Amino acid sequence: MLRPFNLEDLRDVQNIANISLQERYSSDVYLFIYQAQNSNFYVYTINNTVVGFICGLVESPDGARILMLAVKPNQRCRGIGSRLLDAFINSCVKHGMKKVKLEVRPSNTKAIFFYTKRGFQKQGIIDNFYTDGEKCISMVRYL
Ligand SMILES: CC(C)(COP(=O)(O)OP(=O)(O)OC[C@H]1O[C@@H](n2cnc3c(N)ncnc32)[C@H](O)[C@@H]1OP(=O)(O)O)[C@@H](O)C(=O)NCCC(=O)NCCS
Repeated sequence: MLRPFNLEDLRDVQNIANISLQERYSSDVYLFIYQAQNSNFYVYTINNTVVGFICGLVESPDGARILMLAVKPNQRCRGIGSRLLDAFINSCVKHGMKKVKLEVRPSNTKAIFFYTKRGFQKQGIIDNFYTDGEKCISMVRYL
């Protein structure tokens, strides 16, 4: 089931992020996104257990940015990531957004393939983007 994030999901979301993403974020980061105006934060649950999430912010009058998307390893390749992405995109369309941006590690070929197949195109490279010094590929999908 797909639904908006609530505070009780915080620990599960942080756990999924920690096993799925190389960056580490404190609870404050998730709380900031949750409390921000114009944020999009969804979780996907199976039997009331959170197995994936997506979050992002509106960053300009016509554009939003996906900050994190992750699905629990044992629940991947079942369409959950696609459903979370669809929910985010649909909300952006509903609010008149014209584009959605994100950043991904060049080494994360699976995610790059996932996003490319879903309409995102590479926009550029930002050096030294991640805390370990890896650059990022910025991607955009025009809505
Ligand atoms: C990227 C990520 C979120 C995708 O989530 P997911 O739930 O596996 O996504 P989906 O199941 O919707 O799609 C993944 C692939 O599985 C395939 N798939 C979907 N349902 C399937 C099924 N029932 N059986 C087999 N394969 C299936 C899809 O076709 C898709 O492949 P494709 O890209 O070739 O079309 C997930 O791999 C992840 O959490 N990765 C680690 C974190 C990460 O890298 N996040 C992005 C950082 S920017």
